Amino acid sequence: MSSMAEYDRAADEIRRPGKEPTQGALNMRELVRLATLAASSHNTQPWRFRIHERAISVLPDFARRCPVVDPNDAHLFESLGCAAENLVHAAAVQGHTANVSFDSTNEEIIVRFEHESLARATDLSRAIMRRQCTKTPYDGSVLTSEALRLLEQTGQGAGVRTIFLTARPQMDAVIEYVTRGNESQLTDPAFRKELVSWIRFNPGDALRTGDGLSGCTSGQPSLPTWLAKVIIGVVLTPKAQADVDARNIKSSAAVAVLVANRDDKAAWVEAGRTYERLALQAAALDIRNTFINQPIEVRPLRHQFESWLGLTGEHALLIVRIGRAPLAPFSLRRPVDHVIARP
Ligand SMILES: Cc1cc2nc3c(=O)[nH]c(=O)nc-3n(C[C@H](O)[C@H](O)[C@H](O)COP(=O)(O)O)c2cc1C
Repeated sequence: MSSMAEYDRAADEIRRPGKEPTQGALNMRELVRLATLAASSHNTQPWRFRIHERAISVLPDFARRCPVVDPNDAHLFESLGCAAENLVHAAAVQGHTANVSFDSTNEEIIVRFEHESLARATDLSRAIMRRQCTKTPYDGSVLTSEALRLLEQTGQGAGVRTIFLTARPQMDAVIEYVTRGNESQLTDPAFRKELVSWIRFNPGDALRTGDGLSGCTSGQPSLPTWLAKVIIGVVLTPKAQADVDARNIKSSAAVAVLVANRDDKAAWVEAGRTYERLALQAAALDIRNTFINQPIEVRPLRHQFESWLGLTGEHALLIVRIGRAPLAPFSLRRPVDHVIARP
């Protein structure tokens, strides 16, 4: 069985510092590598990248869908938006600005690059290597008003905004919704089967696939897969998960809800972009975040959650908790060659 040391070496290699670009030429492979460091639902990495002369297309890989938790592919297109956002910031390091558009007919995000002598590395581009979804408990400290202001500014997109909840009664209400979401999801055999198929129970499993949810990222012990599958069948109860989520949310400084004025593929891409930008800004401030999307994934709950938030004509698309904590082990990625599409 592979060791945790091998896992850590692989995670570091995936996030190795980039080489300096030469004379304003774009290093497209490097851009794709940095795009793949984005967040994706269940770490499915549901993307392919087509390289053009001065553009990269981000395409859906529907073989990596999660039809139970994400039947309309909203999380899939949000994940593509996350990757596209990383391209924007990675391009700045290579002296280029980037323009992102979504072609809904071909379901393709096109990121076009233009040389710009003033473009250079920023706090957000530097944070690409350090951004992670930190699934451990946070330290309970509050955010400074300056940090909150920066995050609020970053959480704005075209038709997308982020609502920050910092009052304890509001966060307790979110815990209630997450608890009800766990009850619905974890009593559904199809949901459990899909979730377990994406969990990598030990470093060897994670290294073999380069994708999925590595147990070590949320502090789980490494176990042989057969044993872990038996144990998880017993210990992954709605009550146990609700307790973990309640503890984690209570330990956080804020809950942020990304809402959009539409609920279609273009809006999902934009929400993904906005989330990734927010996550990069948080990482730049040494602030952690991760998702608690159960109230959105369970349809009937989502409508109640939206009414509770007082939304009219807007849709809640993503929920994250935010706070301070040490970095956890990083997740893995598939090799860049596996995600580059043929022209
Ligand atoms: C659209 C989307 C939905 C996600 N939903 C959840 C979620 O509900 N719960 C969770 O723990 N993580 C969720 N994640 C986080 C992924 O598990 C995480 O991005 C992935 O494992 C890769 O790890 P990293 O972000 O640390 O690189 C989501 C990510 C995306 C992009």
